[in-house]
Amino acid sequence: MSEEEIKTALRAVKYPGYSRDIVSFGLVKDIAAGNGAISVVVQLTSGTPEAAQQIKAESEQVLRALPGVKSVYVDVRKPPGGAQAAAGAQSPWNRQERVPGIKRVVAVASGKGGVGKSTVSVNLACGLQILGSRVGLLDCDIYGPSIPLMMGSKERPTISPEEKMVPPRSHGVKLMSMGFLLDGDQPVIWRGPMIMKTIQQFVTSVDWGELDILLVDLPPGTGDAQLSLCQTVPLDGGVIVTTPQEASLGVVRKGIAMFQKVNVPILGIVENMSYFTTPSGERVEIFGHGGGRAEAGRQKVSFLGEVPIFTEIREAGDQGVPVVVSNPDKPPAQAFLNVAQTIRDTLLV
Ligand SMILES: Nc1ncnc2c1ncn2[C@@H]1O[C@H](COP(=O)(O)OP(=O)(O)OP(=O)(O)O)[C@@H](O)[C@H]1O
Ligand SMILES: [Mg+2]
Repeated sequence: MSEEEIKTALRAVKYPGYSRDIVSFGLVKDIAAGNGAISVVVQLTSGTPEAAQQIKAESEQVLRALPGVKSVYVDVRKPPGGAQAAAGAQSPWNRQERVPGIKRVVAVASGKGGVGKSTVSVNLACGLQILGSRVGLLDCDIYGPSIPLMMGSKERPTISPEEKMVPPRSHGVKLMSMGFLLDGDQPVIWRGPMIMKTIQQFVTSVDWGELDILLVDLPPGTGDAQLSLCQTVPLDGGVIVTTPQEASLGVVRKGIAMFQKVNVPILGIVENMSYFTTPSGERVEIFGHGGGRAEAGRQKVSFLGEVPIFTEIREAGDQGVPVVVSNPDKPPAQAFLNVAQTIRDTLLV
């Protein structure tokens, strides 16, 4: 897919209230495409939030209709200065500042627990790093942090001269987790407001430095806690992890609704535990198969890929060396690396 073809498609999108299209207005800035993914930046110079919303929806629609396109990301940037301030007043983000130095913040969520969010998060984080991005991974699961175990790190953060927490690094990824600050198996018994405060500090009082992408591993569910977390961290996109069976897919809709409520664009759905291949080569679809892709189609969001069940993935998680690091050329790692590449293409990181 060439830049010219993409521009031609976008000429069908008229600026709301005008007969001219967004391309001839010179609003289409960055275009990137590859592997069936298209990413476009539209920079507005004026206009209302409604106009921005309409441009985004229509652009996504025409790009999705192009042959061979699997995922589409349209970043409509608001005009700088006064107009943006006015638009921000209605948005849940008006209390939020972007974190200086961090290009993109992406959350990994699911409706149900135990579907592999943390596993997907660590492998995507390491995968993105291997593919060349500068990556941070923030574990927002205060009650059940699993990132330290899965990344093989028990190091406590140190304090910088500026009194910020310096995140420990593992496999090239900067990490922050409640697990680093707790002693042993002490349970956390905080209430909501304490958690919000901590998460806020994990974003603003941690010396993340320059990052292309900060991945956020959310706790399971789509309740108030997750919703407030999404409002605490300025998110650029959400990834939803599901398993193929109906019991899990039903709650995917809640995950999507949660991101929509706080205006976070959905990057797509990952189907984890898609199938299992026995040592004799027989394929067993333990939880069914293809439900994630079908649901993505129904919900009109991108399908980011499927990850089969591999014993190696679980073992790697327990040993603290994600499969994309320990065996990058093997099929378990390739499944994650494919998803990581799609996210890179989509977000231009
Ligand atoms: N594709 C896979 N193949 C094999 N094992 C997997 C796979 N995905 C996840 N697991 C294993 O399943 C278990 C649950 O995964 P994980 O902790 O990542 O889920 P989660 O959604 O983060 O859970 P929670 O909701 O508790 O945060 C872990 O032991 C993990 O190693
Ligand atoms: Mg988890």
